[in-house]
Parts: sequence; C-alpha cells; structure tokens
Amino acid sequence: MASSYTLFFFFFFMFFCDFAISSHIASATEEDEYVLTLDHSNFSQVVSKHKFIVVEFYAPWCGHCKNLAPEYEKAASVLSSHDPPVALAKVDANAEENKGLAEQFGVKSFPTIKILKNGGEVVQDYKGPREADGIVQYLNKQVGPASFEIKTPEDAANLINDKKVVVVGIFPALSGEEFDNFNILADKLRSDYDFRHTTKAELLPRGKSSVTTPTVRLLKPFDELFIDFQKFDVDALEKFVEDSSIPLVTLFDQSPTNQPFLVKYFESPNAKKSKYTDVAGVYKGKGLSFLLGDLKDSQAALEFFGIKEDQTPVVIVQKTNGLKFINLNVEVDQIAPWLKDYMDGKVKPFIKSEPIPETNDEPVKVVVANSLGDMVLDSKKNILLEFYAPWCGHCKKLAPTLDEVAVSFENDASVMVAKFDASNNDIPSDTFEVQGYPTLYFRSSSGKVVPYEGNRTKEDIIDFIQKHREGDETTTEPGKDEL
Ligand SMILES: *[C@@H]1O[C@H](CO)[C@@H](O)[C@H](O)[C@H]1NC(C)=O
Ligand SMILES: *[C@@H]1O[C@H](CO)[C@@H](O)[C@H](O)[C@H]1NC(C)=O
Repeated sequence: MASSYTLFFFFFFMFFCDFAISSHIASATEEDEYVLTLDHSNFSQVVSKHKFIVVEFYAPWCGHCKNLAPEYEKAASVLSSHDPPVALAKVDANAEENKGLAEQFGVKSFPTIKILKNGGEVVQDYKGPREADGIVQYLNKQVGPASFEIKTPEDAANLINDKKVVVVGIFPALSGEEFDNFNILADKLRSDYDFRHTTKAELLPRGKSSVTTPTVRLLKPFDELFIDFQKFDVDALEKFVEDSSIPLVTLFDQSPTNQPFLVKYFESPNAKKSKYTDVAGVYKGKGLSFLLGDLKDSQAALEFFGIKEDQTPVVIVQKTNGLKFINLNVEVDQIAPWLKDYMDGKVKPFIKSEPIPETNDEPVKVVVANSLGDMVLDSKKNILLEFYAPWCGHCKKLAPTLDEVAVSFENDASVMVAKFDASNNDIPSDTFEVQGYPTLYFRSSSGKVVPYEGNRTKEDIIDFIQKHREGDETTTEPGKDEL
C-alpha cells in the first residue's frame, strides 16, 4: 500500500542550483571510516549486535547516493559519540550477492534508508533530511523517547502543534499494557506523527476533560478535529491512527507544508467540492489521498505541474515515484470514472512540456519535453545538452560560453548544442539524471551518454565534444547544400 500511496508532496526543494559531485566523490572514497560497510555475509551478524542501526542501500552509479555519501559519513562521525552510539551502515544493493538483502528490505530506488532497531526486529523507513546536520537531528529524535509527557498547561501549549496530527494517550496511570502498547506504536510511527501522553485530559485543547479508561485522542487540524479511541492492541491502534489522520480532502493553500497529511480542511462547501468529497470518500483507505486547491492560493502548485489557469478545474494524482496523472478541464461527473480508470491502470502519465518552439534558429537549440525524443534521443547526432533553470545564476553565466561552443559547430551538422529548461519540462526518468543546475550531458550519435564534469570553458567543452563524438565517417558537407 505504501508504494502506491498518493501524496501531494511538493519537491521544489530538491533542485539546487549547481552542484559539486566530483569533489563529493573524492572525499567519500578516501575517508570512509564511521559508516560501516555491510554485505550479505555479515549483515545479520552486525545488525543483531545493534539496538539502533541505520542502513543505506545504495548503488554505485546513483547520483543521489554520491551526494549523500559525505553527509552520511559526517553524520556517522557525529553520532558515533552519541550515548548510546548510533551506528550508520551501507550496503551496495546493486552488487549481485546483496540482491537478496535488497529484496528482503523492499529496496526499489536508491538510496533507500532503513532504521533497524533491537537487533533488526523493528524495521522503519528513514524519512529525514539528506544533509549531515539534518540526519543527526532526525536520528537523535529517533533514539530519544517516542512520546513526551504533558504535565502542565505549558507542556500542552509547547507539545501540541495545532497544525499537525498529534496522538495523545490519556492514561489513569503511566503503566500497564495499554501504556506499553501505546509506546510501541509511538516508536513505530514516530517519524510520521507527534506522540504525547498524559494523565490529565483537562490539559488537552479538545475532547472530554475527564477520561476514566485509557484513551487515545487523535487531534487533527481538519475534519472532525479530534477522535477518541479505546482499543489498545498495537495493530488496531496503528490502523486507527493511519486511517483517521488522512483528511478526506486536503486543501492546498499558500503554505504547503512538508507534512503530507494535512493542511487546512476547506470550509464553505459548494456543489463541486462536495461531489469531490463524495468521490474521496469512495477511495479513502485505498492508497489515494485527495487534494483540493483553490485557484487563487494554488499558483505555485499549478506552476509546478505546468498547468494554466484556463485548464482548471483539474484533478491531479501525484505518485510517490514522481509520475503524474492529470485530468484537465474536468467536469465534476468525470472525476469518479476517470479515477476508476486511473486505479485500473488505464490513464497515461502526464509529462509537463513547454510548447515546441516554432522557430529554433539560435545557435543553442531549444529542446522541450515533447521534442526530446525527436531532437535528442532519436536524432543520431552528437549532442551537448544543458539542463538548466531560468533562475539559476550559474546557468546564466554559462550561457554565453555555450553560445560560443554552438557557433563553433554551426557548420557541423552532426553536432548540436542544446538546452532544456528542466524547471518547465519533465525529464523522463529513464533518460537523464539531473540533480542540480546546470547539468551538462553529452550524448553521442550512437546514444552513449557521458556527463560533462569538466571546466565550463569554451575550449574544454569543445575538446570534450571532439573527444566523444562518433559516427563522423558518414558525414559529408553539412547543411549548406540544403539552401
Ligand atoms: C562485511 O564484509 C565485507 C566483505 O567481506 C567487508 O568489506 C566489511 O568490512 C564487513 N563489515 C563489517 C562491519 O565487518
Ligand atoms: C579546471 O581548471 C583548473 C584550473 O584552471 C585545473 O586545475 C583543473 O585541472 C581543470 N579541470 C579539468 C577537468 O580540466
């Protein structure tokens, strides 16, 4: 269920301008000390000795893994002196002999990071940041208590965030099976929700102020605002928390928060909204969550998905694997049938693209998502392709250099210099991996792809193209005789 979960979780922050992969690689290979290297031969044995160990499943070719490596190492060195120590490990999940391990842990993408507790008895997903300080902070929170006690009105004010789902256990005494099970659940779900416990129901902002039997009160900023629950076996508790913390429909407003489960619940129902809510009711708990955006407040989201105002109302399904399914100018009555088609696998993913430009006669050619196939993948040319974003300063600096490079190949029909605005066009995931701007790739006429990581000077880039170009024996007098 988790893998098909549809969350409207926006990825603006994943693209940073410019990057320094090469220096990261260099530092990661030499000083690997604190991160333990595990493989199929010693994985279980090492894990069984740790109360708390974090394992990264990586692949040597994965760019995100390379970027993570120095940060992970730094975090490992800081956490090695934590009391009790927190161990960080890695497994090359791409190696043939470790594929069994990768399968066991459901590794489908890289890096996949798992937290293993009690010698591997408890396995959780790592859902924290990917830079050293963030990793340390996140893991410190993971080894600390899973639930905090509310003893005073001040605690209640500090520990209850009224914009988040907060799960509070209310107990006559802080002991017993119910309390233990609550803590087991808190530990299990601590990265998704805030857990609190108290003996004083009167300190809570909502719900009955006196409670005589152990009760879990889930406070949430939408729908019915709080729900009490009194069954204490761990599975029932878990199902209760997961089910009741997904809003029927989530409103996307000006402040998209990283907390996927909430934002504000919309007020003032009208026909469209309530129809949508009906549909949402049908699919609740089936791996879909719903988002409703008000036009005025959703500009950033529309831009992110590449949707124009006159294409609304729109229904969007965003899968956690990055695929998008979009139904533009949707009629209210089409929502349910379209969703059924989607669930049945009949809807094709949506690819964001700018229009293919009518004229494309600058030295550096413009490639958009919809022309990537024709102009690049099927072109049989030698192509230097820049992935850029209009706002990226390093890209602007590089532009005149690329122009000069392009001009120098102007009479060479088998070489093309092109640019792709990756902030306004989707890059099909099986083509180029782009993690920062600008990213330069060279793709030879036979389809060999090499990242350009050299200096960004005209001379170096031209040399690189000359070195990697292919298929020139068939080229004859380019271009001119067409005139
Ligand atoms: C596990 O085994 C691999 C391969 O033999 C070795 O490189 C690695 O250091 C071992 N890890 C530990 C923590 O013993
Ligand atoms: C880039 O330039 C610097 C100094 O200008 C030089 O030391 C370095 O070797 C160059 N790198 C490449 C990949 O050519």
